[in-house]
Amino acid sequence: MAMISRRSFMSGFSAVGASCLLAPHSRANSQLPFLRATASTAQLTPEGYPSTSVWAFSSDGAATIPGPEIRIKAGERVQRTLMNELPQSTAVHWHGIRIDNAMDGAAPLTQAPVETGATFDYDFVCPDPGTYWYHSHNRSREQVARGLAGSLIVEDVEPWLGLPGAATREITLVLDDWLLNEDGSIVEGRWDDLHAAAHAGRMGNTATVNGQSFPHFGLRPRERVRLRTINVATDRIMPISLPGLSPRLIALDGHPVTPRDVEIVELAPAQRADIVIDAPVSASTQIGLMLDTGRSNQVEMAAFQIEGEPVEVAQEPVRPLPSWKTLAAPDLSSAKMEPLRIEGGAMRGMDEAMYHGKTMGFRELTSHGMAWAFNGVAHGMDDPMFEASLGRTVLMELSNRSAFPHGIHVHGHHFTILTRNGLSDPNKDVRDTVLIGADEVVEIAFVADNPGKWMIHCHMLSHQASGMMGWFKVA
Ligand code: C2O
Ligand code: CU
Repeated sequence: MAMISRRSFMSGFSAVGASCLLAPHSRANSQLPFLRATASTAQLTPEGYPSTSVWAFSSDGAATIPGPEIRIKAGERVQRTLMNELPQSTAVHWHGIRIDNAMDGAAPLTQAPVETGATFDYDFVCPDPGTYWYHSHNRSREQVARGLAGSLIVEDVEPWLGLPGAATREITLVLDDWLLNEDGSIVEGRWDDLHAAAHAGRMGNTATVNGQSFPHFGLRPRERVRLRTINVATDRIMPISLPGLSPRLIALDGHPVTPRDVEIVELAPAQRADIVIDAPVSASTQIGLMLDTGRSNQVEMAAFQIEGEPVEVAQEPVRPLPSWKTLAAPDLSSAKMEPLRIEGGAMRGMDEAMYHGKTMGFRELTSHGMAWAFNGVAHGMDDPMFEASLGRTVLMELSNRSAFPHGIHVHGHHFTILTRNGLSDPNKDVRDTVLIGADEVVEIAFVADNPGKWMIHCHMLSHQASGMMGWFKVA
């Protein structure tokens, strides 16, 4: 028998304990491919700077930031056994998928959190094509900030790429914002930072695209490419621009829009935009993906390097994506009205709100880590905000009475944006997450056609954790 040193035994043992011993057992049970949530390291800062200890997803190989891209065709199933190798319980939410409620991953509402060393089988159909993502939905303010996010691409059944006016290829761009120390480590011990949570949230100091700082992407002259952009940041709104690439929007949150020119695409956390770009004619130019970080500061997040032989195709007007045939249109004549009043936060606060059945003043709420409320309830997970009968149209008036913008996400449904501040929205975009400015009132409508318990929350995860969440029931 070969001798093994204590050192190799010990390191071998920890690996065995974490994955090998558990893996064959769970695989035998479920037969699904793995999605492991595990501790790992990533080079988030430029080469030569220290790497970062992260929590990340992997399928078979090493865990990566972002997690492995999951790709299927519309109507197909995603099947993954989540294996939790983290020191905390976790759960995976499949953001934007009109999913079977039991698979929604919204712990503890739709499933118990998956404990360390345990597994959970996710097995669900993705009915609608588009750009989605998956992320931790347990202690998500911390777990997403540590890296637990990846893209989920649901391809059209009818091909679009390669058709006249369409792009010839696509690039997924997962945009993130990290709060790092100088030694590259994630700033810890501030997960419950109420000051940040009562303002715009946990703002990072390091921007990454696909887990890298300032990556380069090659484009041939005149090449037309589809960018699938996803903002997976914990709290940062990302206004991005692509000057010189004639960006045109073709989808928002996965749902197709009539192609339209855009100068700045404002992505709230969790929002996605599919953008068609045309590379310029002249080679050897470099064009930046610019992020507006406020106070007229811009950061160059990535660069497109125009190089190689020009593409020889006539550039036609951008071809729209095939429309969804799966989404029911809201029926406003019989809609159920549901107001959603957003209150709290620094500068305004609120007089009082209910927290776990007890009415409290703002000061007392903050002593419980609460700074925000929906309809006068902070962290409203005890009872549903409302119930809708299956198939009924829900019309919601989201009114932001706070001094901060919020990205409000509805689980299990996509909604139409009807009005902003009383004015009819010209685009009537269909989304799963809507950014609502301070003092803005936005009306949305959707058909409650997916039975179950569905969360509504702010996707600024610091806001969510400090009160901006609730749920509704469809039955
Ligand atoms: Cu992307 Cu409730 O989350
Ligand atoms: Cu918010």
